[in-house]
Amino acid sequence: MINYLYLRRSQKKSTTDYPQQYGCDSALKLDIGIVKLFSLRILYEMEVYTMNTYDFETVIRRHGVGSGKWNEMSSFPEVPKDVIPFSVADMEFTTMPEVKEGLKEFIDTHVLGYANPTSEYKAAVQNWMQRHHDWTIQPDWILDAPGVINAFFTAVKAFSAPGEGVLLMTPVYYPMYMAIERNGRKQVSSPLINEGGRYRIDFEDFEAKAKASDTKLLLLCSPHNPSGRVWTKEELTRIGRICMDNNVLVCSDEIHNDLIMPGFRHTVFASLSDEFAQHSIVCTAPSKTFILAGLQTSNIIIPNPDLRKRFLTEVLKSEGNPKCNILGLEACRLAYTHGDAWLKQLLAIINKNRQIIVDFFEREFPAVQVTPLEGTYLLWIDFRPLGIDAHELARILREEAFLFFDDGFIFGDEGSGFERWNLACPTSYITAALERLKSTLNNHI
Ligand SMILES: Cc1ncc(COP(=O)(O)O)c(C=O)c1O
Repeated sequence: MINYLYLRRSQKKSTTDYPQQYGCDSALKLDIGIVKLFSLRILYEMEVYTMNTYDFETVIRRHGVGSGKWNEMSSFPEVPKDVIPFSVADMEFTTMPEVKEGLKEFIDTHVLGYANPTSEYKAAVQNWMQRHHDWTIQPDWILDAPGVINAFFTAVKAFSAPGEGVLLMTPVYYPMYMAIERNGRKQVSSPLINEGGRYRIDFEDFEAKAKASDTKLLLLCSPHNPSGRVWTKEELTRIGRICMDNNVLVCSDEIHNDLIMPGFRHTVFASLSDEFAQHSIVCTAPSKTFILAGLQTSNIIIPNPDLRKRFLTEVLKSEGNPKCNILGLEACRLAYTHGDAWLKQLLAIINKNRQIIVDFFEREFPAVQVTPLEGTYLLWIDFRPLGIDAHELARILREEAFLFFDDGFIFGDEGSGFERWNLACPTSYITAALERLKSTLNNHI
């Protein structure tokens, strides 16, 4: 075992190094050595395998520690201990060990003063975009921002004037409505068409809305929250063509772009053509992918220098001098450098949880429509066929089943009667929740 542990520490050794390591100088010793070597090799491979297996089972309970997501449950004192919320897009897993350990080391060796992104940081962002999204970006395109919400609020102010139209594909992530309303712009909605449970764009309506002379900006949610659609290249190209032809700038919120289910592929809007790149800003962040939202670090990627300047001018005007968090920058660098295997395993858990829920509804409540999940870890479920009023449904789920989802109506009128289920948690919590859901719904239908 000692030798085995030694091997573990010197992982770079090839199998041919092992005999020297054991000092085999005779045929007999060599035979024994080979047997030993063989079993060591199996152990070694098992260890390499387990080393790459991350913990997606432990939940750190976040009652009373300032978690917005968990706080909602505190007004329900009778909530059982094993209940976790399935609402806000924040995951119930522990931090990736490489990020946790890397941050500890960073704190030990750095001063926590004002920070700017380093060249290593920018290289990590560039490499991630290249590796995961086949998108080549330049370091100076990357603007660091405390959040994607901040960025699309800024985009609304920088690229439209009060009273002008900002286009949304609804239902949609609710802060997008706020960015428009709170800044006195006009909300221009192009409702998505729900066709047998899958959403598609009504391009005729979209084009008519984009054509209006006062429509200046599209807030594109890609992948789309809450519908879970991963827009295809063809759809994005059509969206882009309509926007380019009508002088509508595209602000593409791609915060969920790493969270893609098997069989689907995300396309970065700006990667489709140079023309699209020159007329868009792309909002990305490691926060959804790696549970880093509390560190408030995102990367707003703007290839066009003129748009970049206008965006930065607006940031300085309306936010003073926002800085990214030094630990957030380091966490992003660590995650983008070491996170491939973790992300792969995360996606497998999300897909497994999705399938369990899909099977449950097919078996127990076939009328309920689960929207096919193409991307994000947010499952959009249509409970309307059960005939329960949307607000009553929300009450029943919380008070009787202790199920804390995001209610569909917060995403706009089209979301009424839907619930959005956050799948990013250990599978055991999903199966326990389904039991509660089954008995509760059976009392009401
Ligand atoms: C589509 C979308 N954009 C932005 C955000 C939030 O971004 P940030 O925390 O970086 O402001 C979320 C969080 O759920 C989201 O779903």
